[in-house]
Amino acid sequence: MTLDRIRHPALHGKVMTATEAARFIQNGMTVGMSGFTRAGDCKAVPAALAQRAESEPLRITLITGASLGHDTDKILADADVLARRLPFQVDRTLRRKINAGEVMFIDQHLSETAEQLRGHHLAPVDVAIIEATCITEDGGLIPTTSVGNSAQFIQQARHIIVEINESVPTSFEGMHDIYNLEARPHRQPVPLTAADQRIGQPYIQLDLERVAAVVFTREPDSPSNVLPPDADTRAIAAHINRFLAQEVKAGRMPDTLYPLQAGIGTIANAVLHGFEDSDFHGLTMYSEVLQDSAIALLDSGKLAFASAASMTLSGDVYQRVIDNMDFYKSKIALRPQEISNLPEIVRRLGIIALNTALEFDIYGNVNSTHVNGTHMMNGIGGSGDFARNAHLSIFVSKSIAKHGDISSVVPMVPHVDHTEHDVDILVTEIGLADLRGLAPRERAIRIIDNCAHPDYREELRDYFNRACQYAGGQTPHLLDEAFSWHTRYLKTQSMKPARAHHPVREAEAALMD
Ligand code: COA
Repeated sequence: MTLDRIRHPALHGKVMTATEAARFIQNGMTVGMSGFTRAGDCKAVPAALAQRAESEPLRITLITGASLGHDTDKILADADVLARRLPFQVDRTLRRKINAGEVMFIDQHLSETAEQLRGHHLAPVDVAIIEATCITEDGGLIPTTSVGNSAQFIQQARHIIVEINESVPTSFEGMHDIYNLEARPHRQPVPLTAADQRIGQPYIQLDLERVAAVVFTREPDSPSNVLPPDADTRAIAAHINRFLAQEVKAGRMPDTLYPLQAGIGTIANAVLHGFEDSDFHGLTMYSEVLQDSAIALLDSGKLAFASAASMTLSGDVYQRVIDNMDFYKSKIALRPQEISNLPEIVRRLGIIALNTALEFDIYGNVNSTHVNGTHMMNGIGGSGDFARNAHLSIFVSKSIAKHGDISSVVPMVPHVDHTEHDVDILVTEIGLADLRGLAPRERAIRIIDNCAHPDYREELRDYFNRACQYAGGQTPHLLDEAFSWHTRYLKTQSMKPARAHHPVREAEAALMD
C-alpha cells in the first residue's frame, strides 16, 4: 500500500481494512457500487459484507453499473445479502435466486438508473463503494476500467467508501470523461456532437466530508469470458458487412459509417471482429462496453476512436492496453453510462446499434432477456437505450440454440424487450432480413425466408399462412398456437414436433433455471 495514490492529505487518515469499511453498511440500506460488465468493480468490501452476513442479518439493495466480476454476485447471493438487485447481472447463482423469487431484480435500461436516482424514483443511495486508480490533490476520484453509475452514486451517497486498486496503473488518469447531467427543469442539451469529443472532467469530484473510508486492493478485474468467433458468428458478421457496404453504396451513409454500438457477449464481440475483414476505415464507436474486438479494431487502424462506459478485456488484451497507454488513451473515452447510453446522443449521432436477441418472432419483436418468457437470463442492459433511438437497429442471433432444439425464430415471442417498431434489421447465420419500410405481413415472409433455420422454416411458413387465412388482421396470429413452440419445448425439451424423451437435454433444460 502506498499513500502516493491518495494525493489529498486530508484522506490519509481514512485508510482502513475492508472489514472496518463494511461497518458503514447496515441492514436494509441501499448500496451503490462501481462495476460494469466485470470491469472496475469493487473487490474487497463486498467480500467483507458477505462474511459479516454469516453472523448477523444483513440484506441490502445493491445497485451497480451493470454486471460484476470476481463472482461477487454469486458470493453475495449465496450469503443472502441481496434483497433487491439492479440494473443488470449475468451470474448463474443470482439468476437462480431471481427466478426462484428470492431476490427482487429490477431489469432496467442502463441509461435510466442514474436518472431514477436523481428523480427519487428509487430509494437514495446510503453508501457508495467505488473503485479508483487514485485520488487527486483536489479530491477528484480517478476511476479504473469503468465509470458506470459511479458519479451519480458519489453525488448522492451519505457515506463514500473508495477502494484504491494498486494493480491498475495510474496512467489511466486522463482516459475518463465525466459529465454530470443537470437536474430538471433547467437541464441543457448535452454538448456532444461527435463520438471522440470530451465534454467533462477526467475525474469524479468527491465531497471529502462524506468519504468515510479508503481501502487498498491489488486484484485485477476478472478477465472477459467471451468465446472466440465460430463459423456461425463469422457468417453473421459477413452478412452485416455486406449490408453496410450496400448502405454506403446507396449513399445512405459515409464510408466511415456512423458510430457503432455493440452489445455484450460472444456474438456481439464476434460481429465486431468481422469489421477487421471489411473495407471500412475511420470507424468510430459510441458504445457502452468495449470488448477485445474494439481493441483489435483500434490496433488494425480500422477504428479511429472508441467511447464507452467500460472496458471488459481478456488478460492479454488488457496487458496490451496498459503497456501502450499513451496510444489507447488518445483513442478511448470512458464516460458515465447515462452519457454513453443517452438517447439524445444516440439519436443525434445516428448510431448503428448491434445487439443480441435470445429469440425473435416472425414480425420482428425481440426477446433478449426471458427464457421461455418467464426465466431471466441477464437483463435488457443498454440494448433498449440504443435500439429505440439508433439510425439502424440491428439484432443478431444464431438461428438455433441448444443443439437445434430451440429455434430463435418463433411464431410469437413470449416476452418482448424490443418491439417491432424498434427493430430495423435481423440477422442470423442463415441471412439478413431488412425490415425497413415493410408492413407486418411482409416482414414475416422476409424473416422466415432469410433468418429461420431450414429445420423450422416450413413450420413457420405454415403457421403464418394459416394465421393469415383463419385469423387475419394487421398482424395475423393463431392465439391458441402462438406459444405452442415454447410449451412443446417445456414438455419435450425440443421445439421440434413429436420429439422423443431425451434425458440429457432434460438435465440441460433444468440447468437453465
Ligand atoms: N432460448 C433459450 N436459451 C437460449 C436461446 C433461446 N432462444 N438462445 C440462446 N440461448 C442460450 C444459449 O444456449 C447460451 O446458453 P449457455 O450459456 O448455457 O451455453 C446462452 O443463451 C448465451 O447464448 P450465446 O449464443 O452464447 O450468446 P451470447 O453470449 O452472445 O448471449 C444474450 C446472448 C442474448 C444472452 C446476451 O447478449 C444478452 O444478455 N443480451 C441482453 C443484454 C444486451 O443486449 N445488452 C447489450 C448492451 S449491454
